[in-house]
Amino acid sequence: MNKKIFLCAALPVALAINTASAQDVQLKLHPSQAETVIPKEIYGQFAEHLGRCIYGGIWVGKDSEIENIEGYRKDVFEALKDLEVPVMRWPGGCFADEYHWMDGIGPQENRPRMVNTNWGGTVEDNSFGTHEFLNLCEMLGCEPYISGNVGSGTVEEMAKWVEYMNSDTNSTMAELRRKNGREKPWNVKYFGVGNESWGCGGNMKIEYYTNLYRRYNTYARNYGKNRLFRIASGANGGDTHWMDVAMRECRHNMDGISVHFYAVRDWGSEDDPITGIPMGKKGSALNFNDQQYYEIVSKSLEIEDIIRKHCAVMDKYDPKKNVAIMFDEWGTWFNVEPGTNPGWLYQQSTMRDAVIAAASLNIFHKYTDRVKMANIAQVVNVLQSMILTNEKNPKDPCILTPTYYVFKMYKPHKEGKFIPADLTCESIRVNDKEQVPVVSSSASTKDGQITLSLANLDVAKPHTIAISADEMKLALVSGEILTAKDIHAHNDFGQATQVQTTSFKDVKQKKDGSLVVTIPAHSVVTLQVK
Ligand code: AHR
Repeated sequence: MNKKIFLCAALPVALAINTASAQDVQLKLHPSQAETVIPKEIYGQFAEHLGRCIYGGIWVGKDSEIENIEGYRKDVFEALKDLEVPVMRWPGGCFADEYHWMDGIGPQENRPRMVNTNWGGTVEDNSFGTHEFLNLCEMLGCEPYISGNVGSGTVEEMAKWVEYMNSDTNSTMAELRRKNGREKPWNVKYFGVGNESWGCGGNMKIEYYTNLYRRYNTYARNYGKNRLFRIASGANGGDTHWMDVAMRECRHNMDGISVHFYAVRDWGSEDDPITGIPMGKKGSALNFNDQQYYEIVSKSLEIEDIIRKHCAVMDKYDPKKNVAIMFDEWGTWFNVEPGTNPGWLYQQSTMRDAVIAAASLNIFHKYTDRVKMANIAQVVNVLQSMILTNEKNPKDPCILTPTYYVFKMYKPHKEGKFIPADLTCESIRVNDKEQVPVVSSSASTKDGQITLSLANLDVAKPHTIAISADEMKLALVSGEILTAKDIHAHNDFGQATQVQTTSFKDVKQKKDGSLVVTIPAHSVVTLQVK
């Protein structure tokens, strides 16, 4: 396990100075201890019928004036293709427990309209349904992850959905699929039985949900050779009671259990002083001071403690680690951008989001003996997105967020073996309780090469890292960096290249086979090393 050793004397935020001290961070890699493979599914995405994620983000329809491939927005599709998305979760989120899949099949003009009560009361015309989603996944080469409706749907409805998607027989459901244009089953593997059943998915107690899980899950059948990977609705953050009861009652009936964690300052709401619209106390995605920066970074790092707590509970029931944690919602959550629909959760994304993404992925890598999937929320136009499209001028090219670039830089970690390491660095004191280590790191090995990612979480100061490895001399092959002068830097319409990756060479090769690397304040660096 990657031990982090923080020096005792933490610096208060105000004392952080703008100079790098010589080799103030030590990183020792243990390549011979690399065992656990980092599943590519850690790099999963989440697409919900929420705001402009599906409509205007992914889907514009075949007749749109916006360039599209079979109705999918072309620039968004291509950006996702380039990212090599391994898995995408759909249709929610909260939307999933009000979604009735039969409304979203058949001729588009006959599909019923519903009010999306969770997300701004928008009228949903169901033009994007099962075929549109599963065909998209096929075109992207990613695994679909379907979230089934337990909150307001019936057992029969869920059972028939699975049959419709996966059966190759001449049953009525399989024939209906064929009539709607799809001959072969999609063989969907990942299947979630409810979403946030403790909240928008039915406000249940875990003692009640476990019975429902067992019942709904029974009738979600396997068809042909396809085996469903069955995912229970899991805890809200660190709710270990939920995990405990779910593991006690359902561990033999599930392959994974979800956990949701958002880095949010305060869920409480307050009104926008100008419009009177409830904006929340989550703070702005774009305007923040150093203290607010560290508060959110520190919040995002709490995910490690949450994983440890859940792992301890799971180990008690399942020491062989047969049941996986699926972080199928995570990311930053700020106030919506001023002037946008408060129910659509549209937020901008800065270098702050990028370092948080990197630090979170570094944490997931460490626990991949138990954490097998993570789906950042959400893929386009919602919360910590990869991609943004312009609401006012939808024909503008889409823009890629700093978080997109982190996911791109981290691609070589997929299916690499996680390398345990010791990181020694100072930390910055945020308040009485919280501290943020100045550097977060992760390394993996694949095809005889090491990928090493470093995130400088210090908003003001560069840091110099001495990197060595047991019984191995390190030689740099290539490097890439994502940074900007200002932590608030972000890409915007008409200014799409404010934050993007460039090559990184600030690496000194030492005779003893170690490397000395200086990384600028608030940056993410990925090195290829041999
Ligand atoms: O991602 C936005 C929402 O956050 C999801 O719909 C829900 O599951 C969670 O509360």
